[in-house]
Amino acid sequence: MRLGLSVLSERKTSTLSRVPVITIDGPGGAGKGTVAKRVASALGWHLLDSGMIYRLLALASIIHKVAADNEASLASIAAALDVRFVADDESEGVRAWLEGEDVTDQVRSEDVGLVASKVAALPAVRSALLDRQRGFAQAPGLVADGRDMGTIVFTAAPLKVYLTASVDARADRRHKQLLEKGQSGSLARLAEAIAARDKSDMERKVAPLKPAPDAFYIDSTDMSIDEVCSAILEQVYRRKLAEVEL
Ligand code: C5P
Repeated sequence: MRLGLSVLSERKTSTLSRVPVITIDGPGGAGKGTVAKRVASALGWHLLDSGMIYRLLALASIIHKVAADNEASLASIAAALDVRFVADDESEGVRAWLEGEDVTDQVRSEDVGLVASKVAALPAVRSALLDRQRGFAQAPGLVADGRDMGTIVFTAAPLKVYLTASVDARADRRHKQLLEKGQSGSLARLAEAIAARDKSDMERKVAPLKPAPDAFYIDSTDMSIDEVCSAILEQVYRRKLAEVEL
C-alpha cells in the first residue's frame, strides 16, 4: 500500500483532475479508516486520513494551551503544523508524529476527537488545511476519508462513498477497539461522545458532514468490513476506475 500521508510531498492542485480519487465520508466509528486502508491497499493507491490532521491540530492546541475557539491562532498553527506520518508495517497503518514526537495513541483518544471536532468547525482552520489535503491526490490514485472529502475537498472525485452506521453499532465497535488495546471505557459514555461529535459535525456552518448529492450510500450497521470493501470495489469496477479482482 502507498501511504499518502507518509511518503508524499504536497503539490499544486492544478493537476488534481487527472488523478482518480475515492472519497469516503461519514460519522466517526463507521469504519471509514479501516475500509479506506483496505481499499487503498487493494488498488495500490495512496491514502489520506484527513481526520488525523484535525486531531493533530487539536493535540497541538492542547499542548500549546490555545483555546479551541481562538480561530486566528489555530489557523496559524494549522498553516505551519509540524506533522510527519510514518508507515507502520505492524498495523498496516500510519504512525503520526507531532513536533518530533510519536503521538499516535494519544491522538486517537475520544477526548482529542472532541477537541478536533471543535477546531474543525472554524472556517479559517479549514481553509488553512485545504491545499495540504488536496496535495495528496497523486498518481495512481487516492483514497481519502473524512467528513467533507466528497463535498468540499475533492468535489470532482469519480466515486464518493458515504459510510454510516447506527450510533450504538459505532459505539460498540469503538468499545471493542479500546478493549483490544487494553484501554477501558464505558460504552454509554462512548455512545454519548459519538452522538455529541455527530451533532457538532453535522450542524456546523462550514463543511458540515452530509452525503454528497452523488454519493454511494452504505449503512454498515449489519455489514462486515469485508462486505463494505467489496461493495466499494464493485463500484470501482463498474465505474472503470481501476482494474479490480472481485
Ligand atoms: O475521523 P476522525 O474521527 O479522526 O476525525 C476527528 C474530527 O475531525 C471529526 O469529528 C471532525 O470534526 C473533524 N474532521 C473534519 N473534516 C474531515 C475529517 C475530520 O471536520 N475531513
